[in-house]
Amino acid sequence: MSCKFRLLLENADQLVVICQKEEEFLLLEGMQHLVVLEKASLVIGNDGYIKAIGPTETIHGQFSHAEFETVIDCSGKCVLPGFIDAHTHPVWAGDRVHEFTMKLAGATYMDIHQSGGGINFTVEHTESASEEELFCSFKQRLERMLRAGTTLVECKSGYGLKLDTELKMLRVIERAQREMDIGISSTYCGAHSVPKGKSVKEATDDIIEHHLPALKQMALNDEIHVDNIDVFCEKGVFDLESTRQILLAGKAIGLHLNFHGDELNPMNSAELGAELGALAVSHLEEISDEGISALAAAKCSAILLPTTAYILRLKQPRARDMLKAGVIVSLGSDFNPNAYCFSMPLVMHLACVNMKMSLKEALAAATINAAYSLGRSHTHGSLEVGKQGDVVIINAPRWEHVIYQFGGHQELIEYVAIKGKIV
Ligand code: NIG
Ligand code: FE
Repeated sequence: MSCKFRLLLENADQLVVICQKEEEFLLLEGMQHLVVLEKASLVIGNDGYIKAIGPTETIHGQFSHAEFETVIDCSGKCVLPGFIDAHTHPVWAGDRVHEFTMKLAGATYMDIHQSGGGINFTVEHTESASEEELFCSFKQRLERMLRAGTTLVECKSGYGLKLDTELKMLRVIERAQREMDIGISSTYCGAHSVPKGKSVKEATDDIIEHHLPALKQMALNDEIHVDNIDVFCEKGVFDLESTRQILLAGKAIGLHLNFHGDELNPMNSAELGAELGALAVSHLEEISDEGISALAAAKCSAILLPTTAYILRLKQPRARDMLKAGVIVSLGSDFNPNAYCFSMPLVMHLACVNMKMSLKEALAAATINAAYSLGRSHTHGSLEVGKQGDVVIINAPRWEHVIYQFGGHQELIEYVAIKGKIV
């Protein structure tokens, strides 16, 4: 006999929810809506959505154990929303551990990029890898993300550059979407680097005239569905004007705009994102004051990536200035061969220590705001009745432990559930 409900989490020492919020994101002034319930329970239905949240006694009065497929006693534990990683480059072949040594010896990101390493190195190896090899390593990476509490992750292509290899990467992402439980938001990032032997104009034209029409056709054929378009808007990569052209062409085929900007040099990328109605701009270490105001006014999220500033010893993104100005701040791991980090708990930890975010600000940035940056905050990013039942259960009496403890989350994170299914 099938049960009426999928999962009951009862008697949690703490359960982090969002209360009385009107919009699908949290600004600095709205952080009080992130509320910690004590001795609380949560019900997830057979459809994978949250049916009830409340004090354990109230939930006991409304539901009986017999109605549930699975009941977990959460005493001594805390329940949090699943983490959302708003920025990753997880499909690639070719190890770059040797570049870590070069960087430690003083080479900059651009030194390595311009000498043919960096993205170009990964592009060569990704081109020669088979689709099956790429899928296997991608799957293992997603499994590691899941074990660190990530339940929805943005995944970029961008180590193909040529149409065939970009499509190979996007097919790998599509397959994982179909076969795995973890949620995926898929991003076409063909403008991640200018291919060898091409000018910026030639690369831009190729993307607009060949890549994007191919993506449109693939979606119509139900072969590949892409959610977002990304460009690396940077000095020596795609300039502001080519970035604008590519993003507008992507928008015209229905993609969300979500791109890399103002990372190593000030480019006015934030201003461009605001002007074009982008959902988000990532990195922003070099954002201007005007860029900060523009993001706030346009409700364009800033996806901050503390691992990048850490590994490249860049200046930290100005998280406090952005929060004070009313920007929707999100977080991502930036997982890629340069910043080899799967863990959103570590990302939140770095955001607090290095970017001076509060614990609640970091959690909101890695859940509800990250969901907003992917256009998913109506269904994801918080524990609220009606939202998807994606949860992380930690073996600690206070939720802050998930940020406070750094390194080795395997023992701390006891369960991860997606749509109420323990994974
Ligand atoms: O977000 N900045 C551009 N792209 C990636 C790095 C990609 C790579 O080095 O392979 C980033 O950090
Ligand atoms: Fe990136």
